Amino acid sequence: MNKIQIAPSILSCNFLHLGQEIKDVEEAGADMIHIDVMDGHFVPNITIGPMVVEAIKKISKISLDVHLMIENPDMYINNFVDAGADIVTIHVETDSHIFRTIEVIKSHGKKAGVSLNPSTPLSSVEYIINEVDLILIMTVNPGFGGQKYIRSMEKKIKKAKEMIEKTGRAIDLEVDGGIKAQNVKKVVEAGASILVMGTEIFHSKNYKEKFLEIRKIIEG
Ligand code: DX5
Ligand code: ZN
Repeated sequence: MNKIQIAPSILSCNFLHLGQEIKDVEEAGADMIHIDVMDGHFVPNITIGPMVVEAIKKISKISLDVHLMIENPDMYINNFVDAGADIVTIHVETDSHIFRTIEVIKSHGKKAGVSLNPSTPLSSVEYIINEVDLILIMTVNPGFGGQKYIRSMEKKIKKAKEMIEKTGRAIDLEVDGGIKAQNVKKVVEAGASILVMGTEIFHSKNYKEKFLEIRKIIEG
């Protein structure tokens, strides 16, 4: 089994010290930096744009995992790729031309992901699964950090894993929302390969200890 990757979501970091926060989680063992882009339309919150991604790229040594919670994602793919995104994930609920969007992301040599809100059925990715590099299962309704994990999503993660296995392709299965030390085992058992964690990491006292705690649970 490949190593489970941990992607701290900077949504819950101290933005006054963004650079230091990123260095600290990298040193603690982060595998990628998860960046939540919100537009105030698709989700009721406004966060980070390409300018900030560009600044992060200058200091980060690991992959930038950009989660676009925005309407008309097509309009902004090039901006985020130019800013330094390594993975670009769009929401299937926002895009009527997903094939094209995936093509554009991949034409830049970047990984293309598709994300599903909790109520969005897995059938929405059935016909595009052979094109994507990553499927992101939301385990909260997107918009904010620190929300409660929706347990019934474990069934969906398992089904997504089965769909992925049937393709025979190396597609990452990412989970995002309310992932914590106490539920991480279940999520990994269900098949997740990338764990997004915001508050669990950034609101902890010691990032290194938190990473050790989580690694011990998922590898033990
Ligand atoms: C929610 C975002 C998440 C969020 C996760 O809309 O997509 O990435 O930052 O934060 P926690 O881990 O606190 O739920
Ligand atoms: Zn996210």
